[in-house]
Amino acid sequence: MADKIRVLIVDDIAETRSHLAKLLSFEGDIEVVGSAASGGEALDMGVRLTPDVVLMDINMPDIDGISATEQLALRAPRVAVIMMSVQGEADYLRRSMLAGAREFLVKPFSSDELTASIRQVCQRERDKMSRIGPLAAAPAAGSSHSSLSTRSEPGQLIAVFSPKGGVGRTTIAANVAIAAAADVGKKVILVDGSFQFGDIGVLLNLNPKNKTIADLVPELEGGDPESLDPYIINHSSGIRVLLAPPTPEMAELVTVNAVRRALELLRMQADLVIVDCMSSFSDTTLMILDEADTILTILSLEITSIKNMRLFLEVADHLGYPAGKIRLVLNRADAALGIRVPDVEQSIGRKVDHTIVSDGRSVVYALNRGVPFYLSNREAPVSQDILKIAQAISGDPSSTETAPKAGAKKSLFARR
Ligand SMILES: Nc1ncnc2c1ncn2[C@@H]1O[C@H](COP(=O)(O)OP(=O)(O)O)[C@@H](O)[C@H]1O
Ligand SMILES: [Mg+2]
Repeated sequence: MADKIRVLIVDDIAETRSHLAKLLSFEGDIEVVGSAASGGEALDMGVRLTPDVVLMDINMPDIDGISATEQLALRAPRVAVIMMSVQGEADYLRRSMLAGAREFLVKPFSSDELTASIRQVCQRERDKMSRIGPLAAAPAAGSSHSSLSTRSEPGQLIAVFSPKGGVGRTTIAANVAIAAAADVGKKVILVDGSFQFGDIGVLLNLNPKNKTIADLVPELEGGDPESLDPYIINHSSGIRVLLAPPTPEMAELVTVNAVRRALELLRMQADLVIVDCMSSFSDTTLMILDEADTILTILSLEITSIKNMRLFLEVADHLGYPAGKIRLVLNRADAALGIRVPDVEQSIGRKVDHTIVSDGRSVVYALNRGVPFYLSNREAPVSQDILKIAQAISGDPSSTETAPKAGAKKSLFARR
């Protein structure tokens, strides 16, 4: 007979916990290994006990069930979550699934519904594991298990974003990535998140025949691939790159869920995952901004760029992003355009964290040769500015004040 299905019960109401435990105690193939009264406790126990299935309540006082599920997906990816909630919460269903829940039970449910869901979810997980192979299926308590994971903790996710295009986002994303790898000693994966018109491949002079995220997406939809290596390109600078699809039509195949999962997996393989985001507020971009530890927000000395930045900061503030999550980068800060840095700071109501000088010669020359300027011209002031940003985002706690994710963080994505 197969192993018993190990279940963790999470609900803030003690009566519900004991009721569920009692129902399950009649099932010979199910064993309740613990019960937690809060999202925080659920996380601790989920990581420590690595149950097969977590029955997760949504509304709880500290960390709600959706955030707990999201965090559990990162810290214990093999634990399958079944969400439990009362009727009439269609939005919760969608958000739960996006957070990584495998199943959704509407309260009140019968004991048959409950046990059928538990068995089904567990069976699906076990099938998936047997496909991935015996290596990945071998349990290793307290750590993440997939053969895709080479780290015990996910790396930092850095979104490079600007509400307006043409301000140097791609240039900065690529060169910061290279500086972090070459001179801060980080393992870096650069993701071209401009799925329709990605420029990273051209900037780094990569062969357009390389695989892209468009090849990875169908794999992810059938469960996690055995390895990400075929999709990630090694660049001579020492970074690794996940490219955008070769044509705009193919970008439509790149779903939010697939990107979310791809980023989770990539974070298990790198210290820094840096994403060059699109300017539009697509669902995918919003999800990336929500998930990011740090958002490098790029602006230039142009009145439209400054106006859009002010609006973006208002939205971010409203959503309760912690103050340290957004770092403002003013590109071409020395350009003589009639607007000065203090004017910008006054207009957007906060200080600029980093500035980058304008250096058309180095930047454009490098671009046309297909060699990023950080590599060809490391001593130039523009490269030194880039290096400072790479150091700041590289997680040296004394150099950044990036706050940890708030327990009850609001989600830009879920709000739409
Ligand atoms: N610091 C800089 N100095 C000079 N030129 C720059 C600088 N940063 C970006 N550029 C140039 O500005 C243009 C837009 O940059 P790009 O990175 O493609 O912007 P985005 O990704 O925001 O659309 C490019 O031609 C790039 O070479
Ligand atoms: Mg770009």
